[in-house]
Amino acid sequence: MSSSTLLLLLCALSLFYLVANIILRKITASRFKSHHSCLDPPALPQRERIIGLDLLKSGAAAVKAKNSLECAVRRIESTANTYSNTILGLNIITTIDPANIQTILAQKFSDYDLGGRIHAWGPLVGKGVFTSDGPEWAHRRAMIRPNFSKQQVASLGMFERHFGHLLALLPRDGSTVDLQKLFFSMTLDSATEFLFGQSVGAQGAGSGSEADRFQRAFDFAQHQMPDRNRLGVMNRFIPNAKFKAACKVVHAWADTYVEQWLRSRDLESPKPNSENSKYVCLEQIADQVQDPRQLREEMLNVLLAGRDTTAGLLSNTFHVLSRHPDVWEKLRAEVDTLEGRLPTYEDLKSLKYLKCVLCEVLRLYPPVPTNARCAKVNTVLPTGGGPTRTSPVFVPKGSIVVYSIYALQRRQDIYGPTAKQFIPERWTSDSPDDPLRPGWGYIPFSGGPRICVGQQYALTEASHTIVRMCQNFKELQSRDQGPWKEGLGLTLCSGEGTHVGLVPA
Ligand code: HEM
Repeated sequence: MSSSTLLLLLCALSLFYLVANIILRKITASRFKSHHSCLDPPALPQRERIIGLDLLKSGAAAVKAKNSLECAVRRIESTANTYSNTILGLNIITTIDPANIQTILAQKFSDYDLGGRIHAWGPLVGKGVFTSDGPEWAHRRAMIRPNFSKQQVASLGMFERHFGHLLALLPRDGSTVDLQKLFFSMTLDSATEFLFGQSVGAQGAGSGSEADRFQRAFDFAQHQMPDRNRLGVMNRFIPNAKFKAACKVVHAWADTYVEQWLRSRDLESPKPNSENSKYVCLEQIADQVQDPRQLREEMLNVLLAGRDTTAGLLSNTFHVLSRHPDVWEKLRAEVDTLEGRLPTYEDLKSLKYLKCVLCEVLRLYPPVPTNARCAKVNTVLPTGGGPTRTSPVFVPKGSIVVYSIYALQRRQDIYGPTAKQFIPERWTSDSPDDPLRPGWGYIPFSGGPRICVGQQYALTEASHTIVRMCQNFKELQSRDQGPWKEGLGLTLCSGEGTHVGLVPA
């Protein structure tokens, strides 16, 4: 047989294999669908369903206009709570049905993984609890979790120290300040101290200093994430020198502290942190992980998960508080019960109205406003299909299921006609909707096995900051022009910052 005949035969066989595979997959899918009584959900109107160029374009325009979350709400309201669409050849199902979200995150947890997250985030943070799946993830989570027990997060000394630095930067003459900028530096300082034993010292850092370089690099890299998330595996083929350089700066900073830590442990010299009693996450993880690169990656994963989310919660809280003086007054009255003393962890837990305010901010402005999972196998969502939109929906292996926490937590059928308004009282036990139990309709910290491990840390830091602001300032005046706009990086903050004027108490 000549080589050209052999080549032809090989091509024909490959083609046959491909076609046979597609047919077989279609037959398996069709059997699976009818076995589970699945019906298709409504399809989002698209000009073409191969590349989804119109959706890609309108998505990019909405991000630029800082209203992509509202666009997602409108798309859902005009289509259905669960609908299908196509982008870059990928079959996507979007849902805000609590039963579907519970299925993805909890009941059928093992049917899904994180999809292309490692391709998007890997160059910055590497492999860790936030970017891995399966047994590897379970091992990492088990290692990280003990660092977030009540004992660790209840000691408020570190938060008070970093709040002190923030306070020193706040003008007391009523001039305008962007609190959001300061909160991002404060949460970076506290998170780096908690994780690495050394605060990066971003608050008040001079331009061009090591801290400033680190913060700029970390922020820049994170702002690339929405685009990188969209591109997934394609990121590999698109050069981005600025992103690469930013990752290098972040790695160099983290490596310094990891190496310093490992050296001090080997020499059995005093630890690099000044207070020996201080809790340091790196110290605990270093007992189980020896490889410096892995240590860096485990720590950066948690830093990525925890820093911007808490800063976003704080900046959105102060954005709305400055526009709701009645709520600020009520909060201050509650905080007054502490008679001006520094709050303890138990004090923070006892402030019921503060808890309502945080619940309401997390509902309307969830720091993780959109999320997604990829189906590892053919699987089923319990609702959203067919003409009644209540039939089970088939999710073919490889499909992406997107869920908008932002849209979910603004559903009027869950939160009533005032769903889009900021009303902390809806969370009090004597509210007209008592008892408000949205279940899987309220998931700012996610749910199921991958529920946020830093929830108590974040709520403690945010509560402490709000209480201390109430104790220090009697008035909080909004200096923001125009309505709230989204600020989307990897997480959600206020798109135009949080500009306020402060009147000292
Ligand atoms: C208001 C603040 C916060 C919010 C709203 C929040 C929200 C979330 C959400 C929604 C997830 C699930 C992500 C997913 O599965 O795709 C998550 C995971 C995670 N969060 Fe948070 N988070 C916050 C603060 C923190 C803090 C302060 C830390 C640590 C210092 C932290 C550490 C983590 C980690 C390590 C994971 C990954 C858990 C896993 O995959 O097993 N978070 N967070």
